[in-house]
Amino acid sequence: MLPLHESASPTQRSANALHELPPGQILRIIFDYTAKIADEQSLQRVLSLMADMGQQMILADRCAVWLIDHKHQEVYTTVAHGTEEIRIPIGSGFVGYSIQHGEPLLIEDASADYRHNANNDHKTNYLTRTVITVPFVGNDGHILGAYQAVNKQSPGHVFTQRDLEFLTLAASYAGKSLESVMLHEEIVATQKEILLTMGQIGESRSKETGNHVKRVAEYSYLLALGMGLDSEQAELLKMASPMHDIGKVAIPDSVLHKPGKLTAQEFELMKEHTVIGYRLLNKSNRRLLRHAARIAHEHHERWDGSGYPRGIQGEAIDLFARITAVADVFDALGSERVYKPAWELDRILALLQEERGRHFDPLIIDVFMQQLPALLAVREQYRDMK
Ligand code: C2E
Ligand code: SIN
Ligand code: SIN
Ligand code: SIN
Ligand code: FE
Ligand code: FE
Repeated sequence: MLPLHESASPTQRSANALHELPPGQILRIIFDYTAKIADEQSLQRVLSLMADMGQQMILADRCAVWLIDHKHQEVYTTVAHGTEEIRIPIGSGFVGYSIQHGEPLLIEDASADYRHNANNDHKTNYLTRTVITVPFVGNDGHILGAYQAVNKQSPGHVFTQRDLEFLTLAASYAGKSLESVMLHEEIVATQKEILLTMGQIGESRSKETGNHVKRVAEYSYLLALGMGLDSEQAELLKMASPMHDIGKVAIPDSVLHKPGKLTAQEFELMKEHTVIGYRLLNKSNRRLLRHAARIAHEHHERWDGSGYPRGIQGEAIDLFARITAVADVFDALGSERVYKPAWELDRILALLQEERGRHFDPLIIDVFMQQLPALLAVREQYRDMK
């Protein structure tokens, strides 16, 4: 058998004499859970809440939500509270039938039904007796996945038409939230991909080493957490920081790829990459791109006011930009550039300490030193291949 959901609490089990809840109690469950589900941003938690809701409403032994992976022609579910995924071919079993045909199933005796996939029971050492599957339909009518409830908590009882109706009701309420959370995850994933790609374009123009933007993103994330930002802010910075050098796309090759030291005039031109990046990114109203714009603008400002392009100082410099500055310089020094070899770690750390309170926010340098082992692990993980 499949997915699932370790079932009820001991108190629920002791109420097992009942195999149906009174309608008032079912409405209470729907009411409580749909409110919680509507507030959830995480797909994982929505799925888990939906499984709990279905299980409690119809006193199922196990309940799971299956989603469709069109690319691989599979349906999959995540075991509640775990991370392990179970996958089966898109048309197989009762779940597969409901998803392909867009119809619910109420199976009293699974073993007698041709759609039963007895292999799964063998694998998981679980006996599927009675099953309900209900498809979820999105706003424009396409099928998103299915609810699956397996076995009553009271042994010997089978699912009834009434159970099916309640699970269908739960599916219709929770389906809307499910779709919006899936859409949200899709958008965030797309944004991340676009930003990383744009960052890499900037990077390849400047011939910086392969994983520079990825490392800067990861360093920034760790430093943000160390600075006490919450994981949502840290995640935002991680997505925005790879864009810091996007303005380099507009710098002429003769300057960008110059093997030696830049003349004062060339360096003036190079400094423009901050303002150019800011103008490129600042056109959007999206929160993520507005952060990216500020980072591009201010990642070469210095804590003591001696940076560029504006020479602002201290906390007037965006926190995200101050963090990115440390991550960027740490990475630039450790990498070979057309104009310089890679530095040894000791020399890099000495420079960061020396510039504590001058180039860099002193607090961020302290956090950097505390987080050094984790930062070095990232450096190792995304090492440039020669
Ligand atoms: P980048 O190569 O990504 O370097 C980012 C920052 O890391 C630099 O910002 C600087 O703060 C630090 N950094 C990198 N290498 C060194 C170094 O050898 N010594 C020290 N003390 N710090 C270093 P900066 O200086 O504002 O430069 C911005 C960008 O301008 C650099 O990005 C690079 O693309 C370019 N650039 C700077 N100096 C030269 C140069 O002498 N020759 C060439 N071809 N490009 C340069
Ligand atoms: C399913 O419920 O869709 C698969 C398991 C089975 O066929 O019993
Ligand atoms: C500068 O100060 O802008 C030159 C690069 C550096 O040594 O940091
Ligand atoms: C925030 O966005 O809430 C703080 C980080 C920043 O200064 O950009
Ligand atoms: Fe830069
Ligand atoms: Fe950089």
